[in-house]
Amino acid sequence: MKTSLHIAGVLAGVLLALAIAGLALGDDDDHDDDHYEDHGGWVEPGEDVEPVANVAYAEECGACHMAYQPGLLPGDAWRQVMDADALMDHYGDDASLAPPLRLELAEYLVANAAGQSRKSRSRAFAVGDAGAGDLPRITATRYFRNEHHEIPAGMATGNPDVRSFSNCDACHTGAADGVYNEHRVRIPGHGRWDD
Ligand code: HEC
Ligand code: HEC
Repeated sequence: MKTSLHIAGVLAGVLLALAIAGLALGDDDDHDDDHYEDHGGWVEPGEDVEPVANVAYAEECGACHMAYQPGLLPGDAWRQVMDADALMDHYGDDASLAPPLRLELAEYLVANAAGQSRKSRSRAFAVGDAGAGDLPRITATRYFRNEHHEIPAGMATGNPDVRSFSNCDACHTGAADGVYNEHRVRIPGHGRWDD
């Protein structure tokens, strides 16, 4: 008698835990993907990746291009990018950092990487490899390529105001805030993107 009561108690506990986990997951879905925030009749797309929240990172890694959000690459890729030798030959540039700062920024990137995110667009950047053999690139991820392959070269690499797909903020007006929704795209010289 005592044992079966005990088992019933354990079962109830497990069911409760499952219910809580279910609630947590269900709740997360509301904040995912095409989530729009209503600002008094003016609807704005939500963040697709967490905005940058590290001042040293924003300064050091935002000096030559926008400071890419950690949620745009998986942890393994960030580890490769932040390797001391790799930073010395960083896509053709020298982006070396003193050891304590390099380790601090690497830790920030890995802790907030795409695979860690609760946001589905950010998680999509963690799927597949981000450029086999070479230094990883956001622009080499499968998700990125799928989203950008229809854009004519004349609007991107051949566009003097864009030049490279690495310049996310040239087309994504919300890039600095982590908003990559296609409704916030304005291609220099071409305007809105309608597909
Ligand atoms: C001295 C200039 C410079 C600094 C500083 C710098 N980068 Fe870069 N970075 C570049 C250049 C140049 C590219 C290649 C851009 C291109 O292909 O158009 C690049 C590309 C990248 C890419 C790949 C973008 C893509 O195409 O997907 C990542 C990721 C990146 N940098 C991360 C960082 C991080 C993290 C830091 C800080 C540790 C950093 N960068 C600091 C110059 C710099
Ligand atoms: C030449 C302009 C251009 C550049 C540069 C660019 N994008 Fe885009 N991006 C677009 C367009 C246009 C779309 C919409 C494509 C479609 O729906 O067919 C898009 C779509 C996306 C999407 C999917 C959004 C949605 O609503 O489904 C993400 C995420 C994204 N871009 C991230 C990035 C990141 C990160 C970078 C930089 C590494 C970048 N983009 C650079 C033009 C650009």
